[in-house]
Amino acid sequence: MTEYEYIPIVKEAHAFREISLDFTTPAEIFRESIANSLDAYARRIWLRTSVEDRRARETVVIDLVDDGFGLNENTIKAFLNLSDSVKSEAPPPGNPARRMTGYKGHGTKIYYNSEQVEVLSYDGRSSPVYCRMVDPRGELAVNKVPKADIKKLSLEALKQQREGWGFGELGLGQGTSIRVLGYHQNTKSGLEHDRLRDFVLWFTRWGSWEPKLCAVAKTTSTEVADLTKCSLFLRGLGKKPSQQTAFCLSRRMIVTVCHISDSRGNRPDYVALTVDCIDGWPLDVLRS
Ligand SMILES: Nc1ncnc2c1ncn2[C@@H]1O[C@H](COP(=O)(O)OP(=O)(O)OP(=O)(O)O)[C@@H](O)[C@H]1O
Ligand SMILES: [Mg+2]
Repeated sequence: MTEYEYIPIVKEAHAFREISLDFTTPAEIFRESIANSLDAYARRIWLRTSVEDRRARETVVIDLVDDGFGLNENTIKAFLNLSDSVKSEAPPPGNPARRMTGYKGHGTKIYYNSEQVEVLSYDGRSSPVYCRMVDPRGELAVNKVPKADIKKLSLEALKQQREGWGFGELGLGQGTSIRVLGYHQNTKSGLEHDRLRDFVLWFTRWGSWEPKLCAVAKTTSTEVADLTKCSLFLRGLGKKPSQQTAFCLSRRMIVTVCHISDSRGNRPDYVALTVDCIDGWPLDVLRS
């Protein structure tokens, strides 16, 4: 029998589609976007949801905005591509390095489970860029890779578009604004302000317990200290205006378990369990 080489291929539309459907609840889009914004060294993040009538249909609008390292005409392609990940090599001057969360190049592809994705970004050096992808979910459903239209913008057009989307405070600074329409079949459940706030605090990088852990363990971390100075402005459904949420206002419990050895130091005698509930609950020490 003749031997021959075979290089496996990727069924592109199928791969994009499966990854776009990875998340089971709509709030998870915020976990992804917070990770991406923090990886882009954002210091301010705005997350907003609203419901608008578009073409006589109720449409959920999700805005994911930050003032981090923006994208340009070339780097925006990694945002659109599958398995393409570009992270900043160095922190902005004077800032401590951050540990990156994302590396797979899958995350933003969950935005394709929507009726439209728009990205408006500026890296502070190259021309601002705007990109629009129409009906990615529909295209993937018929086994097509959705097309994106990318165009360079003037600074004036960037400013106008940011103002039009309600993020005029970004001015002409660097940053990325992502607008996703009709995400996850327009599901509203889970996007109500209080539920979304809880989600952000429990299940995203913003709800980090590291500051509390540093305090309990009496250690310091320049990265964590720096992140506590960042701001997140959240507006879930039914809430106006945005509410600021502090980094690490987590409701998680910190549970510290340690073995206390006997006098010869070789056999655990008992376990000390420290439960420290954040949000003002008293420190509770249990022993067994
Ligand atoms: N808010 C943002 N600001 C700047 N660049 C971004 C932002 N969001 C995404 N990107 C760019 O898009 C690329 C793709 O993002 P994506 O979330 O798909 O992958 P990732 O974060 O690298 O990995 P993961 O799949 O683990 O999330 C990133 O590597 C980054 O270059
Ligand atoms: Mg990511």
